Amino acid sequence: MKSDGLKPLLRCTDDAPNQRSFPITKIRSKFELTNESSNPIPSANSSVPLVRLDRLSKAYSEAGQNRIILNQLSQEFYEGEFVCLLGKSGSGKSTLLNLISGIDAPSSGHVFIRDGEQVIDLTRLDEHQRTLFRRHHIGIIFQFFNLIPTLTVLENVILPLELTHRAKSQAGGRTRAETLLDQVGLGERFNTYPDKLSGGEQQRVAIARALVHDPPMLLADEPTGNLDTEIGETVLSLLLDMLRGTGKMLLMATHAQEIARRADRVLHITDGLLVNDTGT
Ligand SMILES: Nc1ncnc2c1ncn2[C@@H]1O[C@H](COP(=O)(O)OP(=O)(O)OP(=O)(O)O)[C@@H](O)[C@H]1O
Ligand SMILES: [Mg+2]
Repeated sequence: MKSDGLKPLLRCTDDAPNQRSFPITKIRSKFELTNESSNPIPSANSSVPLVRLDRLSKAYSEAGQNRIILNQLSQEFYEGEFVCLLGKSGSGKSTLLNLISGIDAPSSGHVFIRDGEQVIDLTRLDEHQRTLFRRHHIGIIFQFFNLIPTLTVLENVILPLELTHRAKSQAGGRTRAETLLDQVGLGERFNTYPDKLSGGEQQRVAIARALVHDPPMLLADEPTGNLDTEIGETVLSLLLDMLRGTGKMLLMATHAQEIARRADRVLHITDGLLVNDTGT
């Protein structure tokens, strides 16, 4: 994040953004992702990007035509960065976030994600393996909150821990959920159902839910797009405050220039390409 000393470990340079190579040979994770005989070579150090896109493409076939949405994108994202993704409607922002989170699979190219000392090639995992990986490593905040209406506020926040079987085994899982809800100002609303909350309150629950499993990276798809400007600003500030100093990476799709101004780095998707904003 821009202020308070939370700086990216490294930055892309426009002249050679994709030249750094990874020591990637095999894929394995501590979360039963692939077979045990894999033998990963540890990544060199934490200056390795948290996420690296390598010639990532996505195309859809429509009426017999191949529509290329994302065309050979290469980019790196680092710990502690707040990166904004701008682009007009239909440019492919959500598509890109879905590829990075593993919700969707690319047509070609790779998404590499650093997991401690290892680097995982997300695109070599099947859908089930990607789901497991996402549950442990990625927090997602959506425009429409995506809370479960039949669960209370607290149950919604605990859900990611339940899904990874950590709610009971990990002592303090519930306490962590309660602490996060306190932090987002909903300490009095644990037992309320989402439909009784305002939009800003629902998004604050969604922020707590995205952080409860302590993922190294957060992906946010227009998280303030469904809130009025003032509430959106409050929610954004809260999110940035909560991330400050944690080293977590935040990649946020938005249409809002005022949000982009607060980012460490701004990327535009234009005609299927990812263009670095020089900030001038
Ligand atoms: N499953 C799909 N099948 C066919 N085309 C798709 C599919 N999903 C997305 N698209 C197309 O991909 C393009 C990019 O969509 P995407 O949702 O990523 O845009 P966006 O930049 O997030 O737009 P917005 O700002 O409106 O949210 C659109 O033209 C969309 O129609
Ligand atoms: Mg979108």
